[in-house]
Amino acid sequence: MKKIMTLYKSVGKYWPFAVLTPLFMVGEAILELQIPGRISNIITYLQNLGEQPIDSAFMWGEALWLIVFSLASMACGVLGALFGSRASAGFSANLKNRLFRKVQTFSFSNIDKYSSSSLITRMNTDVQWVNMSFSMSIRMIFRSPTIFAYALIKASRISKDLMLVYLIAIPILVVGLTLIHVFAHPQFEAGVKKVDKVNEVVEENVRGVRVVKSFTREEDEIKKFDRENNLLYKYFKRGQTIVQFTSPLMMIAIYTVILLIVIIGVNRIESGQIYEMVTYSLNILIALNMLSMVFTFMVISKPSRERIYEVLTEVPTIKSPENAVEEVKDGSVEFKNVFFKYNLESEKYVLNNINLKINSGETVGILGTTGSSKTTLISLIARLYDTLDGDVLVGGVNVKDYDLEVLRDAVSVVLQKNQLFSGSIIDNLRWGKEDATLDEIKEACKIAQASSFIEAMPNKYESKIEQGGSNVSGGQKQRLCIARAILKDPKILILDDSMSAVDTKTDALIRAGLKEYKKDITKIIVAQRYMSVQDADKIIIIDNGEIIDCGTHEELLKSSKTYQEIYHSQNQEASHE
Ligand SMILES: Nc1ncnc2c1ncn2[C@@H]1O[C@H](COP(=O)(O)OP(=O)(O)OP(=O)(O)O)[C@@H](O)[C@H]1O
Ligand SMILES: [Mg+2]
Repeated sequence: MKKIMTLYKSVGKYWPFAVLTPLFMVGEAILELQIPGRISNIITYLQNLGEQPIDSAFMWGEALWLIVFSLASMACGVLGALFGSRASAGFSANLKNRLFRKVQTFSFSNIDKYSSSSLITRMNTDVQWVNMSFSMSIRMIFRSPTIFAYALIKASRISKDLMLVYLIAIPILVVGLTLIHVFAHPQFEAGVKKVDKVNEVVEENVRGVRVVKSFTREEDEIKKFDRENNLLYKYFKRGQTIVQFTSPLMMIAIYTVILLIVIIGVNRIESGQIYEMVTYSLNILIALNMLSMVFTFMVISKPSRERIYEVLTEVPTIKSPENAVEEVKDGSVEFKNVFFKYNLESEKYVLNNINLKINSGETVGILGTTGSSKTTLISLIARLYDTLDGDVLVGGVNVKDYDLEVLRDAVSVVLQKNQLFSGSIIDNLRWGKEDATLDEIKEACKIAQASSFIEAMPNKYESKIEQGGSNVSGGQKQRLCIARAILKDPKILILDDSMSAVDTKTDALIRAGLKEYKKDITKIIVAQRYMSVQDADKIIIIDNGEIIDCGTHEELLKSSKTYQEIYHSQNQEASHE
């Protein structure tokens, strides 16, 4: 119930619609249920008329009532449907909005918990399911019980004996409907889960379509999709086949009730009242069926509700503290006995007792084999993850004490898995600084060696970037990402393997540009090639989550075995080229 209420809070300012809908739906039902009585009056009157002339005043009166009730009930129905669709459209929009905002507060470790396809499914398919059950509920949840109770009372006033028919028919129908749901639910539930899987396959395939093609994996991907999609189809088909039994069950119940009412009622009540009883019984049975459908939707959408609830109640692991420090004094960085691991259960630390001091304005290179924890190390500086033990200081202050925005403005990271967004080049660059002038943008691009290829594009800085930056080369994308990071005018600039796709000459030009134009900022360069870091003030060598060596190029050449190996093997490679 708590979960339902948490989700239904998303009705927000549309609450008047959500309240009016059930009211009007109940109104529609009550008004509609006035009609059988009136028709019964007319039938009974006509039957007992005998030879007398028709009392036209009475007939007109009854006809007028019929028209009034029909029109009023119709109006209520239309308004109920209208308000209902407003409420559910508003609810779904608000819920998506809440989810989207919530995901924006996620830290990297929150994001690690969910796959991106799962988050997308939660925002689309799951919201749809929850919305369907919401809109069914607000329409039917009071309407059906009202019809049920009202029709039962009305019927009992006509004949207590005939009520027996209901007492037999209702339990049979309830048992039948329950059985149908018991068998159909697991199928629908499994089907809904499969939707998740199918979405995952589709999303992964579409995202990685280039890799799929280059490995000619299309056939395998199609098979994978077919397998999941067929399972999805089977579950829903089975579920729907079982639900098909509702219709014959309803028909049998309805005809049996009609038959019994006519047989038993013929000598006990007026024929108008027989008509009335039959109509009430229809209403009662349909109301029961509707209720069972609401119930079905509630149950089928339960996993969706839970998945949405899980995201909404996820606690962001990284937040700005109260009384946060609002200024980063300088670009110094210090690691004090830092330990870190992604998975708390794993025994091995990803960073093991890191101690490191970087002075403001220094250029520091980080070398290490793949998986040696270079990315992890630099992630802690911008507080993308929190240390497990020990402290990371930026500008002499613990990163946990800063306002997150202030810290991340001062620490600009070009992530290894960088990303551009659909929009123009200039839009993408302005992520770094919203109000950057064209001159500032041009200067950043000059340093990042991006100007020449941008200028060569037909629309220059206004050229469009496709989703994910698919229409620029790997090296161009890296240079745009570096320009974007420079534009931020940070105190610390971290390039995580950000020049892996640019040639050595451009790599050197970018470094020279940074040295010349961005003297004061601390530069931390994670690289594969020793050449990218050889003129750094300090080179750190990481292995297996530990700093094994630290010094200048010359010092390391003398003292570090690992550095010598890197140096020689890369020089050999270069001489073979
Ligand atoms: N988000 C994550 N969740 C769980 N484990 C992770 C995550 N990111 C990295 N790891 C693990 O942490 C270790 C260090 O990874 P990291 O990305 O820091 O290495 P790296 O030195 O940057 O490697 P590369 O040179 O390939 O970029 C690896 O064993 C990796 O599998
Ligand atoms: Mg890395």
